[in-house]
Amino acid sequence: MSPTKPGSAAAGATRDTLTIVDNRTGRQYEIPVKNDTIRALDLRQIKVNEADFGMMSYDPAFTNTASCMSKVGFIDGDKGILRYRGYPIEELAEKSSYLETAYLILYGELPTKSQLADWSSNITHHTFIHESIKKFLDGFHYDAHPMGMLISTVAALSTFYPDAKDIFNPDSRRKQTYRLIGKMPTLAAFAYRHSLGMPYVYPDNDLSYSGNFLNMLFRTTELQYRPNPTLERALDILFILHADHEQNCSSTAMRGVGSSQVDPYSATAAATAALYGPLHGGANEQVLRMLLEIGSVNEVPAYVKKVKAGEKLLMGFGHRVYKNYDPRARIVKRIAYEVFDVMGRNPLIDIALECERIALEDDYFVTRRLYPNVDFYTGLIYQAMGFPVTMFPVLFAIPRTSGWIAQWEEMLLDSEQKIARPRQVYIGYDQRSYIPLEHRS
Ligand code: CMC
Repeated sequence: MSPTKPGSAAAGATRDTLTIVDNRTGRQYEIPVKNDTIRALDLRQIKVNEADFGMMSYDPAFTNTASCMSKVGFIDGDKGILRYRGYPIEELAEKSSYLETAYLILYGELPTKSQLADWSSNITHHTFIHESIKKFLDGFHYDAHPMGMLISTVAALSTFYPDAKDIFNPDSRRKQTYRLIGKMPTLAAFAYRHSLGMPYVYPDNDLSYSGNFLNMLFRTTELQYRPNPTLERALDILFILHADHEQNCSSTAMRGVGSSQVDPYSATAAATAALYGPLHGGANEQVLRMLLEIGSVNEVPAYVKKVKAGEKLLMGFGHRVYKNYDPRARIVKRIAYEVFDVMGRNPLIDIALECERIALEDDYFVTRRLYPNVDFYTGLIYQAMGFPVTMFPVLFAIPRTSGWIAQWEEMLLDSEQKIARPRQVYIGYDQRSYIPLEHRS
């Protein structure tokens, strides 16, 4: 791959290469192409002279940089396709359960009957949390955001399980996986009960994963809580839809922080923090706030006008990868009506539908290929089910935990991965001398 004179290498170049001509030097380089990708490090040989560091690629926000090889999830943003380990999201939402899907995401195959029973039993038997965690929760203000409480308590789990530092031991990783997937709903439910000033409800191991979560959130005086089956299934499907979404902001945080070889609880806390932001998992909360702000169907055109003027974002619209209808949004929209049949119609749905109708016809949104994403309709369901808006991102974080762990484990076992450490293009001052305080103007 040494440089050649222009024309010579291109003529004899093999098919799976890219020929680059450096017009600064007139040199030509032939760079291998694999999976429609070149390796950024292959650019480093492109130099003006021997002292030159070599060419880098500049890609703020990684809009065109693949940072890993992955077998977990696949998205075709143009066609609106999402698959976990090859299985279409629509089929999983219809036929699978969250725990089965989590197994698939983590271990690559659908479990056999006995694998599923064993997996479910292990998760169920790791739902309890150390009693001391209740003391941390008690230290939070009554109006503390539950995402802040979740981030803090999941980070705190690392102090209870020092064995989690043994990250290259598969048995240890499996144990932490049971704990993380088992305990996230408990931490989330306890955070919610704290905000209400209600006593914590302990896990009920006779209930399903989502049924038990509803129990820990909503049980009051019942001797045994029986979740409504429609709501239990709706929540389970929402959990399936949120389980993984390849290299998004929070998975990237999980991989990046995990690449320093920290324990998975600390890495999950970082991923949860990344999810909290309004442009990521916090968007579902912002959608609800936006719909409340719009207030009525008649006000939608005025709001859309502000969006087009750049004064506002239409929350729950747009996606870095999907340039078509998000397939999850389609499923969520259907579930919304099933939940409304039980809980009553959420009147905000009419405002949401009008936003979607106008946006899908409007040139601003059409030319930018902005469609509803998963967050556009989930908030309406959560609100109808009785969740306060601050719990919405928490409802995203619980199921995403399986995806985060799968991404983390894939990163750990990938011999090409190292500690994450991007480069920068330095555009600041060159060396200069220190100025004593009395000489500064
Ligand atoms: N409302 C109005 N305009 C928008 C929106 C929106 N929701 N999203 C993008 N645009 C415009 C944007 O202003 C830009 O216009 P222009 O070309 O004139 O500058 C153009 O569309 C391209 O947008 P971008 O900001 O370059 O796209 P991105 O890939 O950097 O951002 C996004 C993706 C999801 C952050 C963004 O679409 C957004 O902020 N959406 C609202 C927040 C949201 O719903 N987030 C949830 C994402 S899905 C669940 C998840 O992954 O967490």
